[in-house]
Amino acid sequence: MNEVKITPNLVWKYNYAPGFNVAEFLDYQSRELQLNDTEADGGMSTAGHLNPPHEWDCNKDFMTWLMPKIEIALHEWDCNYTDVIYTSSWSNLHNKHAHTLPHEHGATTLVVSAYVQAPIGSGNLEFEQLLRERWIATSRKPKATIHDYWREVSIETNDVLLFPGWLTHKTQASQIDKDRITFTINCNAIDRGRT
Ligand SMILES: [Fe+2]
Repeated sequence: MNEVKITPNLVWKYNYAPGFNVAEFLDYQSRELQLNDTEADGGMSTAGHLNPPHEWDCNKDFMTWLMPKIEIALHEWDCNYTDVIYTSSWSNLHNKHAHTLPHEHGATTLVVSAYVQAPIGSGNLEFEQLLRERWIATSRKPKATIHDYWREVSIETNDVLLFPGWLTHKTQASQIDKDRITFTINCNAIDRGRT
């Protein structure tokens, strides 16, 4: 028996074993954090600010590690591209009760969400459950009912998620005092051969 895939994979989860420079992110956040429309109940973000983390020296090795993973996703999605452009990156801070509201990333081809610090209890990531309405007529088990609008992905420190910018996602509220620190990058796959 072989499973037959007729839709592309949408979400990848890796773990960046070397880890991130937490002190650099904390320093950046101390200067740049502000309220943001997507952040709720105390969540803060550096979205839209200068000095994006993907350009920092301390993240050079991570960006080198990341590129082949981006290419795997773009290949899976049949993207026709000549260049990958990092259009923006930022960092969010979630303390107890804070969370990110459901949102998408506009015209962004691919989103990278890296977890610089994600202590146990700081909440998981959830994606919109696609195709949910297709099984409306079928009775389903309690854990996967038609009313389950979200699919949860467990998160720990140094996890790196890749997914398309159009896929609606949100975070669960943190239940603990220790902060969750995220590092998100927007990537566009562009075809310079097209005019
Ligand atoms: Fe997001």
